[in-house]
Amino acid sequence: MNAFCDISLTVNGERVNERVEARKSLVDFLREDLTLTGSHVGCEHGVCGACTVRVDGEIVRGCLMLAVQCDGASVETIEGVSDSGEIADLQEAFQQRNALQCGFCTPGMLLTAQALLRNGSVPSREDIREHISGNYCRCTGYHAIVDAVTAVAQARAGGRK
Ligand code: FES
Ligand code: FES
Repeated sequence: MNAFCDISLTVNGERVNERVEARKSLVDFLREDLTLTGSHVGCEHGVCGACTVRVDGEIVRGCLMLAVQCDGASVETIEGVSDSGEIADLQEAFQQRNALQCGFCTPGMLLTAQALLRNGSVPSREDIREHISGNYCRCTGYHAIVDAVTAVAQARAGGRK
């Protein structure tokens, strides 16, 4: 018999009340119950970073967290962060510098990069590589991604955002 729980949370600024299976992961809940399919499912073991979302402002692995653990929390997905314009410059830089090909890793990569740049710092290329090392990309070879993140860090520091 499956156990279900009622949860109430905020997703991309909107109140959500749902009944979910107790064992359901956060990323499956977002994708299947709320049709927010921007968060991807790759390894389902916390390795690839494709499922990255923000919970109460911190990036987490959506496959390693249960939906019921987010009862009362504020969850932000790539859809919400895109719609708000918060990462418009990162998205543009990824596009301009060919930092996305199939795009499977891109939502997680963008949220992870934003977590690094949010404090206004200009990290070194080594720092950027270290920070995104938990996000796997099978297409771009990372160089272009590091280029894009570096360009945005420098632009934001120059007040040009
Ligand atoms: S699907 Fe969550 S880390 Fe790979
Ligand atoms: S762009 Fe294809 S996996 Fe990264």
